[in-house]
This record gives sequence, C-alpha cells and structure tokens, in this order.
Amino acid sequence: MEFFETIDGLRSHLKQYKDKTVGFVPTMGCLHEGHASLIRRSAKNCDTTVVSIFVNPLQFGQGEDYERYPKTLSEDKQKAEAAGADVIFYPTVKELYPEGFDTYVEVKGLTDTLCGASRPGHFLGVTTIVLKLFHIVKPDRAFFGQKDAQQAAVIQKMTKDLNLDINVVVCPIVREADGLALSSRNVYLSADERSRAVVLSKALFLAQRKVSEGEQDSNTIKKVVHDQISGQNPTQIDYVEIVDPATLQPVDTIDQKAMMAVA
Ligand code: PAF
Repeated sequence: MEFFETIDGLRSHLKQYKDKTVGFVPTMGCLHEGHASLIRRSAKNCDTTVVSIFVNPLQFGQGEDYERYPKTLSEDKQKAEAAGADVIFYPTVKELYPEGFDTYVEVKGLTDTLCGASRPGHFLGVTTIVLKLFHIVKPDRAFFGQKDAQQAAVIQKMTKDLNLDINVVVCPIVREADGLALSSRNVYLSADERSRAVVLSKALFLAQRKVSEGEQDSNTIKKVVHDQISGQNPTQIDYVEIVDPATLQPVDTIDQKAMMAVA
C-alpha cells in the first residue's frame, strides 16, 4: 500500500491509472466495518482504490467535536489495507486549505432540511472538501455510506449539477449485532448511552414493519417512532421525518419509495 500526504505525490502516483478504473472512499478516519465495506466494494470493482483520511475542519460548526474527533491513523492504515485499499491519502489541513483559500461550493435546497437545518454550514464544508478531493483523485467511482443519507443525496446532486464524470455509489448501512449503525462517533457513548442508543434502529425497524403491514400515513408512522424513542429517557430528538430519498421533501402518504430519517 502507498501513503501520500501531499497532493502532488498522490497525483503523480495516480498518473499510471489514467486508463484504469480508480475507486475512491473519502473518510475522516477512525475506520470501522462500515468504511471497510465501502473499501471492499471499491477494491472489488476498481483497478485501484484510494482512501482519504482527513478530518475536515470546514464541516464542523462552532462547539462541535472537531478538536476531539477520534484520530487513529496507524490502526486506520491497517484496516484500510486489510479491506483492499491500495493508497492512503492523509493530507494536512494546510495542504488542503492553504492560506488565502476562499472558494466554496454549495448545494442549495437539499441542504436546508434535516441535519442541514440544525448544522448550518455543515454541508457547505462537506461539498467543498468532497469536490476538492474529487479533483485531486479524479476517481471513476466514489463510495459513500447510506447511513449519512442526506450527505449521499447532496453529493449525488452536486455530481449531477456540476456534470462530474463520477459514479457515486451509495452502499448499505452496516450495523452492530444489536442493530446500532456503525459510526466513528459511537466511541463517544458511555456504556449506558450505548445500550440506550439501540432504540434508534429498533424504532426504524418498527416503522418499516408497520409500513410493510400496510400503514401508509406518514404522521402515524412518525408518531410510533417518536413515542418509541421518547420512551428512552433522557433523549433529545432533532427530527423524525419521512422524505423522498432523492429530493428529501416530506412525504405524507407512503405509496412509493420513502426514507425515514431520524436524529
Ligand atoms: O462522511 C464523512 O466521513 C465526511 O463527511 C466526508 C465525506 C469524508 C467529507 O469530509
């Protein structure tokens, strides 16, 4: 496996893959099985797989966890290699945002709702760094997790709107045995919080069951989920929504593919 800290180093390495298929898995490190599943998918379908590890300051708001975001570079290198990565790109903040950096890319509309509403500026940070990384790596395919469903929809929209010649592949959520979705931030949970967090997947699976049993009214399903999560004190619900998976607009009647989003 090859390691690059600089854009120039990575670019000159990737020149040899000009006529081959380059797969790309952007991450912020602290890799887990969810990331590994993306890397495996890329390794299976592409001639070379680049994994970036960069905790992007631009997507963290004031008072969020930028400073304490877990950093586990040496374990990450091993996990990425075991999953089939060929290249790790781990630039510094200065390498990606040199002094005077002043250009941002924003997807409007899709970023106004759900997490975009409670984390102003977050998606502007995500799209700016992902577009930069796309330009640096020039992948044919880029792999994202469905866990961050709004992020995946926003990246797909940016790719379409800006005519990027990149296939954005959205891969299934990977869960712990008890149902909790894997996330680097799960390391913040105390034992008690960890055991209570499983209410999220329980509530989502209950909603899915109700819909498959024939319930089509969004408000009824949202109330079921709200009640289930609120039963698990102390809890603060940001939102429970049922939306169109592509437009992220609320859906009142579940008579076609719909996505439930909870935070
Ligand atoms: O999902 C993440 O880890 C980040 O938002 C991403 C896509 C690597 C951009 O910093």
